[in-house]
Amino acid sequence: MRIGIIGAGRIGGGIARQLTAAGHQVCVSFSRDPSSLERLADELGPRASAGSPAESVEFGDVVVVSVPWSLVPDAIAQVGTFGDVIVIDTTNQFGSSMPPKGQTAAQFNASRMAGSRYTKSFNTLTSAFQAEAAARAAESRVVQWLCGDDSAAKKIVSSLIVDAGFVPADLGGTAGCAVMEAPRRAGAVYGEEYRAPGAGRRRGRRGRAHRATHPAHTALRMTRRAEPTTSTTSTAASRRSAASSPRMRPQPHACRRS
Ligand SMILES: NC(=O)c1ccc[n+]([C@@H]2O[C@H](COP(=O)([O-])OP(=O)(O)OC[C@H]3O[C@@H](n4cnc5c(N)ncnc54)[C@H](OP(=O)(O)O)[C@@H]3O)[C@@H](O)[C@H]2O)c1
Repeated sequence: MRIGIIGAGRIGGGIARQLTAAGHQVCVSFSRDPSSLERLADELGPRASAGSPAESVEFGDVVVVSVPWSLVPDAIAQVGTFGDVIVIDTTNQFGSSMPPKGQTAAQFNASRMAGSRYTKSFNTLTSAFQAEAAARAAESRVVQWLCGDDSAAKKIVSSLIVDAGFVPADLGGTAGCAVMEAPRRAGAVYGEEYRAPGAGRRRGRRGRAHRATHPAHTALRMTRRAEPTTSTTSTAASRRSAASSPRMRPQPHACRRS
């Protein structure tokens, strides 16, 4: 699959690393120093290239938005139009321009990224922890929660979560996404490590285990009962053909297909 990355720092750069290692193509974008993106693409190898945010959206079947919260409007402006691309938003609402009362950060960003097939994931665990956890063996893999209002998009994102080295757990629509949003607090999944074999238990960052009491716990059990979501190649192929024909994507200038 082709993945555009807007913001290739700690989280976006980590996802780029995990997904190129799994055989996906990435195009990294959004930096104060575009030469750093070229260096990162060189480091990631032949499946990686660098471009502008607009080019990474043209390139991607899926686009990861991973910029500091206060820069989300800048990144969106540099994209122009998202079209119907699938978005994975990793941002957390620290800083200015908070969502209006009663709206989750996911709902707020989904409306700002108008037209996109919006999802949110990879935002509940620190970048260092995600980098370490992505390399774990299957039995100790950790959960990446996701939410979004487009079920087909979430299925594709779930397959990427698996390819990145995690276990997807769908929390439902953007309206119910608050439990995976900052800050860390009792009853939320934000900032907590969950593992599939430990469904019903969660581990605090200091390693203590709690019994989960939140409905998210149920979502995790449901995910474990679901069919495996590892059919990346066939999903990618069908998504690519579905994405490229109706949208007639032009060949990007900088983002490169290998
Ligand atoms: N770090 C974590 O542990 C963590 C965990 C979960 C979620 N998140 C969320 O994920 C998002 C990304 O976090 P992160 O820690 O990965 O951020 P980060 O490491 O600071 O990366 C942000 C990226 O944006 C680029 N950037 C910064 N300012 C820019 C500007 N003015 N113009 C153009 N590009 C600019 C940076 O590139 P240059 O430096 O090259 O300009 C960098 O690649 C945030 O919303 C954060 O809340 C972070």
